[in-house]
Parts: sequence; structure tokens; C-alpha cells
Amino acid sequence: MYLKHAVFENYRNIDRFAFSFDPEINILYGKNAQGKTNVVEGIYLFGSGKSFRHARERDLIMTERPHAQLGITYVDAVRENKMTYRMSRETTHETTKNGVKITKMSDFIGNFKAVLFCPEHLSIVKAEPAGRRSFADSAISQINRNYLAALIEYKRVLEQRNALLKNYERQKETFSMTMDILSERLAVSAAYITSERARYLTRLFALVNASLSDMTGGAEHADFRYLSGIAGQTTEELFDMKRNTEQYRRLFSKDIHREIVMGTSLGGAHRDDFEIMLNGMSAKFFASQGQQRSLALAMKLAEGEISREDTGEYPVFLLDDVLSELDRVRKRYVLSELTGRQVILTTCDESDFEGISCAKRIYVENGTYTYR
Ligand SMILES: Nc1ncnc2c1ncn2[C@@H]1O[C@H](COP(=O)(O)OP(=O)(O)O)[C@@H](O)[C@H]1O
Ligand SMILES: [Mg+2]
Repeated sequence: MYLKHAVFENYRNIDRFAFSFDPEINILYGKNAQGKTNVVEGIYLFGSGKSFRHARERDLIMTERPHAQLGITYVDAVRENKMTYRMSRETTHETTKNGVKITKMSDFIGNFKAVLFCPEHLSIVKAEPAGRRSFADSAISQINRNYLAALIEYKRVLEQRNALLKNYERQKETFSMTMDILSERLAVSAAYITSERARYLTRLFALVNASLSDMTGGAEHADFRYLSGIAGQTTEELFDMKRNTEQYRRLFSKDIHREIVMGTSLGGAHRDDFEIMLNGMSAKFFASQGQQRSLALAMKLAEGEISREDTGEYPVFLLDDVLSELDRVRKRYVLSELTGRQVILTTCDESDFEGISCAKRIYVENGTYTYR
């Protein structure tokens, strides 16, 4: 899959620009705060449905403009597709694919596929659990619509359950009945979410190991430990939906009194995490910064590989400001791994692409873009 065109209007500091991209390497370069990441952010909006910088939608709209619009043209194995994303200060966003309105987020995500790699991801090994969860969630969501639907359902039911716990005093009579219904629904979606994450990470780490041994000459072995309120002895146990559902039922019923006191759900799939291991030891505590970066890199490449295994084609790779963070060996490794796939990367440092020939170069200055 590759991105052919992208039109940005009133997005961040971009008044209007129509980009055309090379099917292989594209480099956006220029000084800081000129509008490089803005382009990557806008493109990745079509992959994940939201800003990877956690910005609110109205902050994406250019100051003092009422709305912004993004349009992309991408080519997949079947055909050329157009998608649009229009945001407005007054109403919610509107999206289309090939002229047809899309109303559900789970129909929007999973069309244009991209793997994003940004400096924040370099520290995924030692990040907070939420960072690792969101890595897994966004990777799985792009290749599995049911997963995204389950996540949305889970979040909705969890909010209802939390509201019920908070309002216990006012709803004493109906509390038990409503709680049973909500806990059951939550257990079913949590069971599926945990099982899919455990399966995905198992596949991912098999691939992580392959590229890690390429990078390091076979000296290192990576693995993960799934951390969950329902974890058993092995990760494989978590593949079993029936088992997970029973475990979650138990988890959601055992602490109700404490949950009422705290006014919130204490456990669940929203607390899952995974610990990354290197040579059998926790990478967070024992791996060097370089090893942690290699792991992060290998995880991103593996994410692209799984997407290709499932869909038949590579997603678009978006590298925001990461090359300059890597040493020569790792930089060369990433670029050689990504040959033949579409890469859109940003950098402040022109020496980053000395070794790269035949790339499309776009100079970025104050929201304007010049092909060089
Ligand atoms: N909503 C907005 N309206 C206008 N300008 C914006 C908006 N949001 C961000 N900017 C501007 O975008 C620039 C940052 O762009 P960014 O792509 O993050 O820079 P970099 O080139 O360093 O990646 C800053 O100058 C910032 O003021
Ligand atoms: Mg930037």
C-alpha cells in the first residue's frame, strides 16, 4: 500500500498544500517547529482516527479558521482510494471513503494502514503501561475490526460501570441487577481483548526475535510476559476466551464493596500490560538504552510484518524524527529493512539522509513545502 497524494487545508500551520509522494522514500526536512510532524500527524489520522500527539480535534484546525480538511489518495492491492477527514469547531468530524460517508470509527480505521514510529516509541520498553497498551491496541485495530469494536464497547460499558459504582447510594435498589448485567458484558469484551492482545504479542515477539538476531548477530533473545488481573502460568492460557470470561466474571464480582468505596472499577483489560524481557531479564531494568531502542525498532518492524501477513501488503511507514536518535548501525538496519516499502520520514538533520539516494525531498518552512 502506498500514499499517492495528500491535500491539507487549514490543518495546524498548513494553509493549503497538495502533496504528492514517492512510492518509496520521502523525506520532509527543515528546522524545528516548521510543520514536519504536522504532516505525519495528518497522514496518521487516517490510520488511527486520532492525533498521535493526543491533541484535541479543535487544536488541529488552523488558528482562527472554522474548519480543516484532509484528503488522501492511496493505492492498495485492489485499487486507488480516496478518503477525506473534515473537522469543524462547531460539530463533530465527517469522514468519507471513495465518496461514501463513514459514520462508524470502526469502519474508518483499517482502510489506510500505517505504522508510526516516533521518538516517544523509542522508550516503549520503559514507558508507562498505557503506552504499551496503546501500541498493541492501535496495531491490532488496524488489522482487526472486531477488536476495535470490542475496545469501543469495553470503554463504554466500563464508563457505565464506574458511574454505577459512584452513584451506589442513589441506586441501591437496582444496583445488584444493573451491576450483574454490566459486569457480564464487560467480562465478555475484556476476555476477547485480552485474548487478542496475548495472541498478537506472541506473533509479534516471534518476529521481533528474528530482526533482533539480524541486528545483533544472534546474541539476544526477546520475549514478553503478559501482565493481567487474569494472567495464569502461561501466555497461551490467555488465548482461551471461555477461560478468560470466567476469570473476568470472578474478577468483576470479588471486590464490589471496595469498588463502591473507591467509586471505580479496580481491575480489567484496561489495566493489562506486558513486560518486555531481554535474555530472560526485564528489559526495563536491565537492558541498556541502545538495547531498548533496538527492541522498540524491532517491535515496529514486526508490526509492519504482521500487517503484511494479514493483508498481503506492507503498510506505509511513518518515521517522525527517529533516525537522528539512532546510531549508524541501527539507522542503516532500519533503512535496509524498509527498502521497497513506502517510507515518509521527517528530520532536522540533513546528514540523516546522506546515504539515501532516489528519495523525494521536501523542504519544510513555516507551513510551506518545496520539492528539492
Ligand atoms: N492549530 C494550529 N494553528 C496554527 N499553527 C499551529 C497549530 N498547531 C500547531 N501550529 C504550529 O505548527 C508548528 C509546529 O509544527 P510541527 O509540525 O510540530 O513542527 P516540526 O517541523 O518541528 O515537526 C508550530 O509553529 C506551531 O505554532
Ligand atoms: Mg516534529
